[in-house]
Amino acid sequence: MSRLFSAALCALFVFSMTSVDAKAAGDAKAGKAIYDTNCSTCHKDGVMNAPKLGDKAAWAPRLKQGLDVLTKKSITGFTGKVGMMMAKGGHPNLTDAQVKSAVEYMIQQSK
Ligand code: HEC
Repeated sequence: MSRLFSAALCALFVFSMTSVDAKAAGDAKAGKAIYDTNCSTCHKDGVMNAPKLGDKAAWAPRLKQGLDVLTKKSITGFTGKVGMMMAKGGHPNLTDAQVKSAVEYMIQQSK
């Protein structure tokens, strides 16, 4: 998939999901809600080679880095062995705490 298409996809999500992000903040189920809205685009079906939610084999080596490192990389964005992820998955409107709770949710579902 081309980067241009992915960038367009993410931009679309930023604009369409902004109000949902605000509602999700502070909610006990925030992690799942934030994931569903902002991260599942790639992490549900492995778009752009993203590790899929619940794919234990794909996540095992990544989880070894620990929550803090995974959160930091998710906030700043990073280029890994199989692809690249934009800062906050392309959702700059998310707070660092929201990204962290989404990472926590993804970890829980994938170990
Ligand atoms: C546009 C697609 C895309 C979106 C949206 C996206 N990611 Fe990712 N993510 C990726 C890709 C691709 C990788 C794997 C890159 C690699 O390891 O080469 C990845 C990897 C990760 C990793 C593993 C990091 C590591 O060190 O192995 C975490 C954690 C993560 N994403 C969290 C999130 C969170 C939280 C969100 C939502 C806020 C999110 N991602 C949204 C594409 C995306």
